[in-house]
Amino acid sequence: MNKLKIGALISGGGSNLQAIIDACLASELSAEIVFVGTDNPDAKGLQRADAVSIPTFVTDYSKIIKSYRENVDSVTLPDDVDFEEILKKQSLFPEGAEPDKVNAFFKTRIAAEADLIEKMKLYKFDILVLAGFMRTFTPYFIDEVNNGELPRIINIHPALLPSFPGVDGYKDTYDYGCKVGGCTVHFIDYGEDSGPIIGQKSFTIEADDTLDDVKKKGLDLEWQLFPECIELYAQAKIRLELINGKPVVKFN
Ligand code: GRF
Repeated sequence: MNKLKIGALISGGGSNLQAIIDACLASELSAEIVFVGTDNPDAKGLQRADAVSIPTFVTDYSKIIKSYRENVDSVTLPDDVDFEEILKKQSLFPEGAEPDKVNAFFKTRIAAEADLIEKMKLYKFDILVLAGFMRTFTPYFIDEVNNGELPRIINIHPALLPSFPGVDGYKDTYDYGCKVGGCTVHFIDYGEDSGPIIGQKSFTIEADDTLDDVKKKGLDLEWQLFPECIELYAQAKIRLELINGKPVVKFN
């Protein structure tokens, strides 16, 4: 069987990326990583890719956002972008959100995503994994990447979705006083951490656990869960079924 070709995006330390690299090298995963991209030029995880000669690239989101703040005309959108259509599709901002804020968000993110797409085009990949990539995507990017029956963008989230979407899942779980925490691997859709769930693992939060304990327990499970879920995709075991109008992951 052909190996699944994985593109990976990271923002930080890349310990999940390392777990996937290790699983590929140990043949626990019938896959290979063909590129690692990042929004953050200082992402430590880039060194993990370099160490095993995986090509890397950077799309500097912060630079694009800064340039827009200084001069809105400095950021241009690709010709094929239907901005109004993207605003209609998106569900990251509620209806009635401040238009300037929404425009600034989508213009800068689409410009960054166009750059990502340009760089990703150099590689043939089957799925795109978000291994600690701390940016949400607009429908422009998602529709460019999803070109088949199954979605192709897979994320790992540090909480038991649909509880605690957003950037700080373990902290939100801990602060809420939950007695169980966990992590979730899911497909990306137009919302924030709202796409179909592929897999989850949970752990007990003991009375004397600190936030650091919770993060450690969670990360240990992330490193197992992510490769396991990617392997399900590689083995073509995943399908989507519509339940109450919403796509839900089922297994073959
Ligand atoms: C992980 O907890 C992941 O769930 C979250 O960000 C963290 C990234 O860690 N999205 P790393 O960069 O993989 O070490």
